[in-house]
Amino acid sequence: MSIKISNRLKLVQPSPTLTISNKANEMIAQGIDVVNFGVGEPDFNTPEYIKRAAIDAIEANFTRYTANAGIPELRRAICNKLLRDNHLKYEPKQILVSPGAKAAILNVLIAVCDVQDQVLMPAPYWVSYPYQAILANAEPVIIPTSEENNYKLTALALEEAIKTHPCSKVLLLNSPNNPTGAVYTKKELEEIAEICLKYKILVISDEIYERLVYDDTEHISIASISPEMQEQTIVINGVSKAYAMTGWRLGYAAGPSNIIAAAGRVQEHATSCVNSITQKACVVALTEEDDSIENMRKEFEKRRNFLFTELNKLPHINCFKPQGAFYIMPNIGWYLEHNKQYINDCDQFCEILLEKHYVALVSGTSFGLDTNVRFSYANSMENLEKGVKRFGAFLEELKP
Ligand SMILES: Cc1ncc(COP(=O)(O)O)c(C=O)c1O
Repeated sequence: MSIKISNRLKLVQPSPTLTISNKANEMIAQGIDVVNFGVGEPDFNTPEYIKRAAIDAIEANFTRYTANAGIPELRRAICNKLLRDNHLKYEPKQILVSPGAKAAILNVLIAVCDVQDQVLMPAPYWVSYPYQAILANAEPVIIPTSEENNYKLTALALEEAIKTHPCSKVLLLNSPNNPTGAVYTKKELEEIAEICLKYKILVISDEIYERLVYDDTEHISIASISPEMQEQTIVINGVSKAYAMTGWRLGYAAGPSNIIAAAGRVQEHATSCVNSITQKACVVALTEEDDSIENMRKEFEKRRNFLFTELNKLPHINCFKPQGAFYIMPNIGWYLEHNKQYINDCDQFCEILLEKHYVALVSGTSFGLDTNVRFSYANSMENLEKGVKRFGAFLEELKP
């Protein structure tokens, strides 16, 4: 008997970043020397002091279900973190601890969206956002951005989108941004906040890359723009990227208590609490930092500088300097334009690059930007050097 999959799921595709990583890993398993720029997680180990806290939790038998929204000491630690780093005051009841920032966003979307509600998101967007909107029964609305504006959403474009989409309810904003590495300035956030307040749009502000900012860039949460904006924002953050803890699965949402309680009810019937041991480790991660966190950030900055310099040396490559996260997204439009006879699009460009030159990139199509490709620099300097050389050799072949 074949059971029909739901109509909603027909619109949901597998994560392209995982697909390219899987393909690259298969090739590596066959003994091929692939440089994998597809990875979306730090290549460092979780710092020792955090691992120690988890071992202590196991030894103390802290291994049972916890409160659905997270253990009180962790919710207090998150409140302290938000006050210390973002100047945002929250009570523990305004915090929901979830199995990853990804789950936190979905819980909130399911909590606030009804059928026909529209979820706005600038392109390029993180690959999961449109599908998460669909899973929440809402409609994703993509707002294009421009290269001149470093692929950032402007207040003007946002207002236009809201006017033409009268069921707009939520804006998904991501700064520092995956895939571009762009970071919104205070002024840009103020302008966006003004429009969100004018049209009563809830902002889900994904700040998972907050700690990974470079040069003198400052991460600012849109919730900190004004008390009114804090009331209309759900701040999303977690430990995956800054603390090299992707496999531990912990993220959180902070916002108005009625929305957090509703998102908590979603979680209660979906996954329940986050792993108890992870929660204990995260109390320590957020309160007792050692220099390993800053050392990882510095290493990412060194790699960003290298990739930015080397990619910009390549002919006809336009590359904007990322200010955060660990991605860089050069425009390969010239090469697509001049090789139409044998490369159809960005996806095919990436397929050929992987098959012929053993370099795995993620095609911009996955992020709603079909002229660019994404490099992740969560990889060793040695691999970055090798990968850029191979990428350059491929471009050389594509010159008419
Ligand atoms: C923009 C963005 N948000 C959220 C996440 C998910 O983070 P987590 O591991 O906490 O679920 C990612 C992971 O790649 C991301 O890039």
